[in-house]
Amino acid sequence: MCRSWGPYWGWVPCAPIPWLLLSLVCTAPFGLLGEETRQLLEFDSTKVSEGATQPSGKPYPPYSLAEFSWNNITNSLDLTTLSAVFQGHPVDEHTGAFANGSLAFKVQAFSGSGRPAQPPHLLHTADSCQVEVVLDGASPRGNHSIFGLEVVTIGTGLDCPSVKELHSIDDEYAPAVFQVNQLLWGSSPSGFMQWRPVAFSQKERDRESAVPCQASSLHPTLAYSLPSSLIVRAFFGSQNFCAFNLTFGDPTGAGYWDQHYLSWSMLLGMGFPPVDALSPLVLGIIAVALGAPGLLLLGGGLFLLLRHRQYSEYQSIN
Ligand SMILES: *[C@@H]1O[C@H](CO)[C@@H](O)[C@H](O)[C@H]1NC(C)=O
Ligand SMILES: *[C@@H]1O[C@H](CO)[C@@H](O)[C@H](O)[C@H]1NC(C)=O
Ligand SMILES: *[C@@H]1O[C@H](CO)[C@@H](O)[C@H](O)[C@H]1NC(C)=O
Ligand SMILES: *[C@@H]1O[C@H](CO)[C@@H](O)[C@H](O)[C@H]1NC(C)=O
Repeated sequence: MCRSWGPYWGWVPCAPIPWLLLSLVCTAPFGLLGEETRQLLEFDSTKVSEGATQPSGKPYPPYSLAEFSWNNITNSLDLTTLSAVFQGHPVDEHTGAFANGSLAFKVQAFSGSGRPAQPPHLLHTADSCQVEVVLDGASPRGNHSIFGLEVVTIGTGLDCPSVKELHSIDDEYAPAVFQVNQLLWGSSPSGFMQWRPVAFSQKERDRESAVPCQASSLHPTLAYSLPSSLIVRAFFGSQNFCAFNLTFGDPTGAGYWDQHYLSWSMLLGMGFPPVDALSPLVLGIIAVALGAPGLLLLGGGLFLLLRHRQYSEYQSIN
């Protein structure tokens, strides 16, 4: 149940971050119509045509995370890594899709700056925490299913947080992913959410298992279409909310269908987000790339100079 998260937040070292709520649990885009809350999305990507309105495919009925039962996180609380895992599956599951599967949110806080050993190696500070979403072992409803999450956040006044795409050439840490996406709450931001547009379809996270992660644009969503979480009300009062969809994978290439596994990470934090500096490898490549022509020019210059001197000496003899 949605509210069962409430008491547990107190146990999580980095949560709750007061001005920024990522309510992965509670939303109901069709709440006004009296339909159920919905959250984990699944699309049938078998018949996706170019330029289709639903680039991920035809949606299956979503799984509402408000109707998941979540584990007792006390047993997953690890004080050495400052992490805890919320693991859940639908309470009422007649299809048996989650018989051997679960959806997990691993929340991790950090005591200082650095990067996790695992891709996508998001740069973190002590003011941030990482949320890793893992869908493992759930049976998809089609043989080419793409999964997604609907994410609800607190707005800024009447607006939604601003969306920014940063490009980096920091290739060493996330091979071939040259982009960092971020949401900023305010121009001098009180908080941020940051992620690389990549998810992984295997436990072994590498280039082969990387799948793209697409984010839709943010839309204001009506507060009263959300289940009334006491925690949310207590921290934010009556706020406006914004929602967007994240989808993991595309119809071609690797996907959830390979190993029935999907993981994706994001960073949540206070103030300005950490900025990726160039990695030592990239700096080295730049140094070599810029250095080599420089050396050639220098060499060429010396050669010309010497040649010229020889030439003038020769002329002076004449
Ligand atoms: C969670 O587990 C701990 C230790 O196993 C136990 O003390 C606690 O009562 C449990 N909490 C709930 C809500 O079941
Ligand atoms: C769950 O695992 C058991 C044992 O490995 C297997 O027999 C069963 O078919 C699996 N169920 C689903 C829905 O995958
Ligand atoms: C996917 O499923 C459909 C219908 O269930 C089947 O006709 C098709 O052969 C399957 N494709 C693959 C690649 O297994
Ligand atoms: C997310 O995708 C689902 C399924 O396509 C859709 O019903 C829902 O309105 C989308 N939510 C947002 C915030 O775009």
